[in-house]
Amino acid sequence: MPACLIVSPAEASASVPTADRLHVVDPALPQVSVTDLGVTRGDGIFEVLGVVDGHPQAVDAHLRRLAVSAAMLDLPALDLDAFRAAIHQVVAAFDEPHREYSVKIIVTRGIEGSGVATAWVLAFKSADDYAVERQTGVSVVLLERGYPHDIASRAPWLLAGAKTLSYAVNKAVLREAARRGAQDVVFTSSDGYVLEGPSASLIVKHGRHIWTPSTSQGILRGTTQAAAFEFFADAGYATSEVLLRIDQLWDADALWLTSSGRMLVPVRELDGRPITVDRELTDAGNAALLARTR
Ligand SMILES: Cc1ncc(COP(=O)(O)O)c(C=O)c1O
Repeated sequence: MPACLIVSPAEASASVPTADRLHVVDPALPQVSVTDLGVTRGDGIFEVLGVVDGHPQAVDAHLRRLAVSAAMLDLPALDLDAFRAAIHQVVAAFDEPHREYSVKIIVTRGIEGSGVATAWVLAFKSADDYAVERQTGVSVVLLERGYPHDIASRAPWLLAGAKTLSYAVNKAVLREAARRGAQDVVFTSSDGYVLEGPSASLIVKHGRHIWTPSTSQGILRGTTQAAAFEFFADAGYATSEVLLRIDQLWDADALWLTSSGRMLVPVRELDGRPITVDRELTDAGNAALLARTR
């Protein structure tokens, strides 16, 4: 399970050769300071990308989103080439026999008072069995996020739509889902719109249309959702980002949660009501997503 520290990850440090700033370290040993703002305040950002058959997927899309999150948090502009090199370095060093695993990128505001961001890239095998989920599907509950759908434009300081390290809420909602007998969650806005899962985008099939909730609502632009849209478009569906009201979910033909590593996981139950699983489309979509070599 290799990790790679990136010393001075800001673009301003790019004059020092990248290779001199990457250090492969043992993630079982302590590497981060107890005064790092990522630890003490959850002040930082992250990305998780999937690796299949040795190919890290959607690297450019993840790095673009990392840069967007960094800008939203007023972190320094990042040397994305150093991150790209670190991703390939941990993938090359990963020696466990898994067909699928994940790579996590972390950037924090750094040690308090230092003004220098901390960054590392880690390869790991997720504890979740995504291959099983793709077959069995998941039971999902709708939970209110507590904001209106236009929160991102009304209050950008709330950082809605940035992939921040502050995922305590995203984990708490999974425990609430478990208390309600479900495995996952789709957030809804306080004014009745459908948003995203705590770690996934939502895709909705309605006839020949494939929809995903609009990112104008302060939700993440899903890299897997974007790749899945390419699959659906090739299969002849009309794809679009939409404002989706909760009641529009009830006459959907199929629903999926998508995220890196997980790919297309069908929703088989929503708030206790059965949802049809489109087995053929799910399997074809997952085959296409798993076959990506970049
Ligand atoms: C809140 C949230 N929405 C959506 C996604 C899906 O993004 P991606 O497909 O790029 O992994 C994630 C991924 O972890 C997420 O945390």
